[in-house]
Amino acid sequence: MELIKTLRLLSNVLFFRFKHGDPHAVDRHWENYWKSIEKTGRGGQVLWDNEPSRASAEDLLRFQPHMDPSLPLLDFGCGNGRQTRYLVQHYPRIIGTDVSPTAIAKAREETPAAQKIDYRVLNGLDTREMQAFHDEFGDVNIYMRTVLHVHQKDDQPRLAENLAILLGEKGTLYQIELALCALDYFRTLPGDSPSGLPTQVHNVIRTGATSVGFDPADRPRVYPDSRWQVIEQSADVTINTVPLPHGEEGHVPASYLILRPRPQGAVN
Ligand SMILES: C[S@@+](CC[C@H](N)C(=O)[O-])C[C@H]1O[C@@H](n2cnc3c(N)ncnc32)[C@H](O)[C@@H]1O
Repeated sequence: MELIKTLRLLSNVLFFRFKHGDPHAVDRHWENYWKSIEKTGRGGQVLWDNEPSRASAEDLLRFQPHMDPSLPLLDFGCGNGRQTRYLVQHYPRIIGTDVSPTAIAKAREETPAAQKIDYRVLNGLDTREMQAFHDEFGDVNIYMRTVLHVHQKDDQPRLAENLAILLGEKGTLYQIELALCALDYFRTLPGDSPSGLPTQVHNVIRTGATSVGFDPADRPRVYPDSRWQVIEQSADVTINTVPLPHGEEGHVPASYLILRPRPQGAVN
């Protein structure tokens, strides 16, 4: 039985990998993903799109004391902006960016006019776009929820280096990421999709978007000590998903990091 489940999952993953091609093409895959989404929020198709009280409100308590309050907050990889709309209540100047134009269109649509949020399309792997963003906004603090792990391992250091451009001299980065064992965790839940996983997880796989998870032991490879100062970290947290087909939220093992880039050239 277990073998059949594994074969079913593997054949699905391989089928969609061949169908959509190069897993490095995050811009194409994530646009594909967001184009496939018709319903967001609880009861919707987006796995992580939970109420802020079950998501960014928990994160805010961790990162707010470490960030310079005079800087704007950037919700990097904001998707449809649900967490951005909560964070704007705590940060008067907030920007939501995402690589997917459709995600940004959804974020704008779902945001009431009274909430002053600047949404932009921005690809974290494009150094020129990231530099232009810094030229426009100056140093920012960054909130990044489950974005690094959707990048292939060899792209992660470039993304980190590009984030350092946005942070500049005064910004602080908060990232929360799924653990490497996230897929194993989802496999323990009742599945109702062709891959045997909960539908909201299958919705990601079928569009070519991939998740490689993040192992905190990998932190020095992505954020080397020569370049980054670790302000706080924990590998003992969860990311709470929307209620899944079995009726309950998923509590996915996760880690968070609070980081600041060292001035270029400094070692300690
Ligand atoms: C798992 S979703 C998380 C969305 C949002 N942070 C949240 O918690 O609701 C990952 C998001 O990262 C975006 N993304 C993927 N690669 C990106 C890149 N290179 N630059 C900017 N955003 C990216 C995707 O379009 C997607 O919206």
